[in-house]
Amino acid sequence: MQILFILCVLIGTFLDPTEGEVVEHFWDSPECMKFFYKQKVPDFGATLPDVVHLCQRFLNTYHFATLYSTYHRTAVYSAYVFEPSTGGGREKNWFLEPQLVNHTWSGEMTDGYWLSKDNPGIYLGEKQALDEDYKNSGFDRGHLNPNGHHAVPGRNSTFTLTNIVPKNPKLNQNAWRLHESKITDLFNANCHQAYVLVGAVPSSNNWIIKNNVQRVNIPEYIWNAYCCVDQNGRPILSGAATALNTELNVVEEHNLDEMVDFFQQYSDTPVGELFSGRCKA
Ligand SMILES: *[C@@H]1O[C@H](CO)[C@@H](O)[C@H](O)[C@H]1NC(C)=O
Ligand SMILES: *[C@@H]1O[C@H](CO)[C@@H](O)[C@H](O)[C@H]1NC(C)=O
Repeated sequence: MQILFILCVLIGTFLDPTEGEVVEHFWDSPECMKFFYKQKVPDFGATLPDVVHLCQRFLNTYHFATLYSTYHRTAVYSAYVFEPSTGGGREKNWFLEPQLVNHTWSGEMTDGYWLSKDNPGIYLGEKQALDEDYKNSGFDRGHLNPNGHHAVPGRNSTFTLTNIVPKNPKLNQNAWRLHESKITDLFNANCHQAYVLVGAVPSSNNWIIKNNVQRVNIPEYIWNAYCCVDQNGRPILSGAATALNTELNVVEEHNLDEMVDFFQQYSDTPVGELFSGRCKA
């Protein structure tokens, strides 16, 4: 009976043409759930209008999960597990999510240049930001899930535009970059595994505008939060940070409870915990 059930699930998986990155809920894809500490997806953001759940697939492997607003054309957050980097350059392509153009398309992130060449006459940017939106915008293509927190090929997969937000160049290249490398050292020195959430709080009315069209929301804040565990999976460290997305270029550190209070200002519904058990032993 159990074997029959497993077989049905397996066959169902192979037959489902929409299997891939865009899922109804993260829990539809066990491969996507592993990026959340104790498989707990935060409550916040899930009820926002126009959000989609992306299981970020590259070279047929899932590398992280993104809750993405097709209205703001930026992520609410990306969730990932930190990997020590083994170096490697910057991926040269910028990937797009084909299933946000047409849900029957491939579930693998695809280089925007080739996706456009292969589908002449089809506009790719209805539900996601395009590389051209960022050109001459004055903003960096700022990673949420940073390439420096991964080894190749996970590193390459962070270069998908659904993981990118318009970041103030000074913040992106200075204070936020330093914050990323500070927690890299912290994770390398202390953690068996570190679960990270990293996101953007959209601005109420600040956009990259192209041809009089509001294309990409310029976030008001960039933030992250982490829960780090030892060999036995016990939580040992947690923390969070926020930064105004301006050339003020300042990162403020917080504990997880302060971070929940921060989100609560922007939410009508209870934010809930960011990590299972508030990342406490
Ligand atoms: C990942 O990016 C590096 C640096 O650009 C590149 O050399 C490498 O070929 C890429 N790997 C894959 C699997 O695409
Ligand atoms: C999606 O792609 C399929 C296969 O190419 C095509 O038949 C269908 O019309 C497309 N759907 C939309 C909404 O464009």
